[in-house]
Amino acid sequence: MSAPAVETLERRLAAARRHLHAHPELSLEEYETTATIRGWLGEADIRIVEYPLKTGVIAEVGGLLGGPVVALRADIDALPVQEKTGLPFASTVPGRMHACGHDFHTAALLGAALLLKERERELAGTVRLIFQPAEEKALGAGQVIASGALRGVQAIFGLHNKPDLPVGTVGIKAGPLMAAADGFAVEVEGRGSHAAVPEAGLDPIVGAAHIVTALQTIVSRNVSPLDSVVLSVTRFQGGASWNVIPDKASFDGTLRTFDEKVRTKVRERFEQVVHGVAAAYGTQASVRWIAGPPAVRNDAGWAETAVRTAEGLGLNVVSPLPSPAGEDFAFYRQQVPGLFVFLGTSGPQEWHHPAFDVDERALPIGAKFLAALAVDAIGKLKAQEATEAGAGTGRSTGPAREAKAIAGTVDPNG
Ligand code: NI
Repeated sequence: MSAPAVETLERRLAAARRHLHAHPELSLEEYETTATIRGWLGEADIRIVEYPLKTGVIAEVGGLLGGPVVALRADIDALPVQEKTGLPFASTVPGRMHACGHDFHTAALLGAALLLKERERELAGTVRLIFQPAEEKALGAGQVIASGALRGVQAIFGLHNKPDLPVGTVGIKAGPLMAAADGFAVEVEGRGSHAAVPEAGLDPIVGAAHIVTALQTIVSRNVSPLDSVVLSVTRFQGGASWNVIPDKASFDGTLRTFDEKVRTKVRERFEQVVHGVAAAYGTQASVRWIAGPPAVRNDAGWAETAVRTAEGLGLNVVSPLPSPAGEDFAFYRQQVPGLFVFLGTSGPQEWHHPAFDVDERALPIGAKFLAALAVDAIGKLKAQEATEAGAGTGRSTGPAREAKAIAGTVDPNG
């Protein structure tokens, strides 16, 4: 693709991203966002596929010649954060902000759709575009799956912007990339009394405080130092007065793990510690788990493919550290093989920060990478099918070359 064309794509995608950025909507409330995306796809003559979703859009490019189906997914929702970027296109809605860059993901997927549409006749399969609602509540992926939008999909791909990676860099890693994100709510019940007569009661605050302290030993004493676990207590509450021992105390928090066995073990140990320590103080505890998405685990085979795709586009490929944040992309991966990657956006702040931003030069890079990866994936799936069928005719031009023809070469500085 020539330099002016790159500039045009970047400008168009930046305009799209800025529009979304100025009009953020929370999870499951993305009605305007949905209408806007539908409008953009409609203008480009990209076919929208109707699935029973209140918000979010499913569309398709290709498939004119049959062939495999692959999916590209972007999330579209914003966060309850008050923006403090000072950008000219900052959020126009008080207390709402695209502070995780899902506006960026949506614009990048739009760009991929436009690039694929330009070469639709040559596409040897179907690319299903999933503009997913409610990632921040970890509800959207489940809704998309329940709507049937994964039907026929043989591989799924998605990306997240990564502020600490420079523009022109893509982080690709086989295995776990993002954590299982579970929540917990613990209530400790004792017996209230006059603060000056503690022997008449069973103090739930002392019991709960010891539980919180004892829980810290799970990570340090029950988990291998080679496994990564986060256990954070983020809310602690009990009592309403300085001279009354209350009858209840409670706390909430989150557990982040990358391995299903470790997740199960930590949860078991958590229950033992809570109930055991509560009993030691004569109190009784209850634990409620709020199960979040499992860890995002990447297929090694698709990671290899993506590395070749990225290198073919002249991108700098790095092996990223996993993130302890959660991602409901994990639910898709329970259904079909696939890959989630980090795309460098040279951001000034981390995700969910009020001054979060992206470098928009990464927009056309994200678009081209997604488009090229979809083409390469279709090529690989077709080659696999040919091998399995024993046809032995696999002398195509090769997926990497087809992808490059569609996406051109990315100039990370352009
Ligand atoms: Ni996010």
